Amino acid sequence: MFLNQSAIALMQKRTSVRTYEKKPVDSEKLDMLRSFFETACENPFDAKVRFDIVEGGSGKLGTYGFIKGAKVFFAGCVKKSGYDIEGFGYAFEKVVLYATALGLGTCWLGGTFKRASFTALMKPGKDEIMPAISPLGYTAEKKTLTEKMVAAGAGARKRKRFGELFFDGDAKTPLFIEEGQLKSCLEMVRIGPSASNKQPWRVVRKGDALHFYLALDKHYAGNTMYGFTMQRIDMGIAACHFELAAKELGFDGRIVFDESQIMADSKADNWTYSFSWC
Ligand SMILES: Cc1cc2nc3c(=O)[nH]c(=O)nc-3n(C[C@H](O)[C@H](O)[C@H](O)COP(=O)(O)O)c2cc1C
Repeated sequence: MFLNQSAIALMQKRTSVRTYEKKPVDSEKLDMLRSFFETACENPFDAKVRFDIVEGGSGKLGTYGFIKGAKVFFAGCVKKSGYDIEGFGYAFEKVVLYATALGLGTCWLGGTFKRASFTALMKPGKDEIMPAISPLGYTAEKKTLTEKMVAAGAGARKRKRFGELFFDGDAKTPLFIEEGQLKSCLEMVRIGPSASNKQPWRVVRKGDALHFYLALDKHYAGNTMYGFTMQRIDMGIAACHFELAAKELGFDGRIVFDESQIMADSKADNWTYSFSWC
């Protein structure tokens, strides 16, 4: 629940917003977001994340024309560690959902923003990475042509089918399950945002446990251009969505790291083990 709103409903409502009204964001809402940052930063990946709100207008701060009308952004940094990028993704997505509950639009930006101008404001330390930022604002009724083109290019609303992401017992057998808590939690993973909408999440059910893997796209430039693997963020988003849905629906379990589960056949498919739910 965020502000008495169902997390599942917020995950269903969230969509990338690239065109904003000129109206400034209420300072009360920004204060509420600032107070939420501390809670959002707690994550099962032990990553040390920090967030801040930065102002300056999309023109001044630089989003290469991809974002229109936003004057306020939130940005995050994470200390380098084993699961830093996943932890960052998990925490950042919580802020995104909280902003959604506040009636604010957001858009994950990992690539199309001028890192230098945000670096000057966030001042990441030598041991920190600034993986992504997001505009904050009220969604404009009319989308710009750029927004329509970017969204169409990424096939924004499209998602892979359930059986392409979720597997039973091994990495090849699609998972068929009845409607219920587990299906709803996995569905929340499926509708999540991901870099270039590549949806690299793969989940294998084994007994009562679920093992989450990253199907890395080796040809995706975002994974090599910025000094970190962008698609690892998507795994953090999956963890956030699954855990929030599980909590809301009373589905037992927690995020654990069980590297003994790395399967021989997953390696053949170029999957990298990320975390488990059991
Ligand atoms: C890690 C990450 C990085 C992203 N980077 C960008 C970006 O640089 N520019 C952009 O316009 N959208 C970016 N997006 C937004 C995705 O394109 C978007 O989430 C995806 O197409 C699905 O659309 P939806 O968010 O409307 O559901 C990014 C999303 C994620 C999760």
